Amino acid sequence: MAPRKIIIDTDPGQDDAFAILFALGSPAELDVVGITTVGGNVPLALTSKNALKVVELAGRPDVPVHAGCPAPMVRKLITAEYVHGETGLDGADLPEPVTPLQSEHAVNYLVRTIMDSPEGELTVCTLGPMTNLATAMTMEPRIVPRLREVVLMGGGFFQGGNATPAAEFNIFVDPHAAHKVFDSGVPVTMAGIDCTYTALMTPEWLDRLRATGSRAAIEAANLADFYRQYGTHKFETPARPIHDACVTGYLLAPQIYEQRQCAVTVDIVSPETIGMTVVDWWHVTGRRKNCNVLRRIDPAPFFELMLERISALP
Ligand code: BDR
Ligand code: CA
Repeated sequence: MAPRKIIIDTDPGQDDAFAILFALGSPAELDVVGITTVGGNVPLALTSKNALKVVELAGRPDVPVHAGCPAPMVRKLITAEYVHGETGLDGADLPEPVTPLQSEHAVNYLVRTIMDSPEGELTVCTLGPMTNLATAMTMEPRIVPRLREVVLMGGGFFQGGNATPAAEFNIFVDPHAAHKVFDSGVPVTMAGIDCTYTALMTPEWLDRLRATGSRAAIEAANLADFYRQYGTHKFETPARPIHDACVTGYLLAPQIYEQRQCAVTVDIVSPETIGMTVVDWWHVTGRRKNCNVLRRIDPAPFFELMLERISALP
């Protein structure tokens, strides 16, 4: 079977870097046709530079990186240096990229590439605020029925939120964009924190990753060592979720995820709960089930696969 074609929309971020390396290390199954960047964990100039650093680390400077929206559709940008450090990729000393960014804006790139692809072929994976995709859908609504699926890291329901009591960071940063995408009619799969909190990355696994000896594996482990510092009080264990990598894991091994088709809406109006993904788990509203909600991962096969794929990179 031909590899599945994906565009990764991202705000790297150490866990974004894991998701990208995991995908680029899986060329038999995934064809990463392009990467688009957005302001999120850190401002756009840094997320764009970081995406270039990651494709170069993977030995794949041929994957085009397009910079997109610097700020959400309506609200001001909120960043997360408190998690990811000032650069967004603190922990690894990656060289300044030599590959240039593409000149075409990410939103134009998304519209052009989706319109030029056969219907139902392209999957967009969003690992940050969904500003670029929602803007592309606004600019050219005909992209919606052309997409195969949107697979996103964001949201949560049973675990509440990690940015506010109700909202997960990616959805909270641009709730209006998320609302647009969930409401668009495109098939959506959501890896929220209910799912990502069930696959915790342990120090033992990181030792194994580092010991494989490839440069990509060693630098990924260095990134994770920094990223693990956040959450000591919250998780009360040295293990940490590696959120965005759960999107790649789903594309490669959906059978290791517990999932349910649900009606999901995004709150864009309530001051206390803006950015919350309201999951109708018991289908009490009778609304159209617009989202495949990932609830749990079987962690052992997930981490085995990620180890194999990242360590296969140079
Ligand atoms: C999400 O927020 C970001 O900080 C991470 O990169 C991930 O995409 C987790 O809530
Ligand atoms: Ca991210």
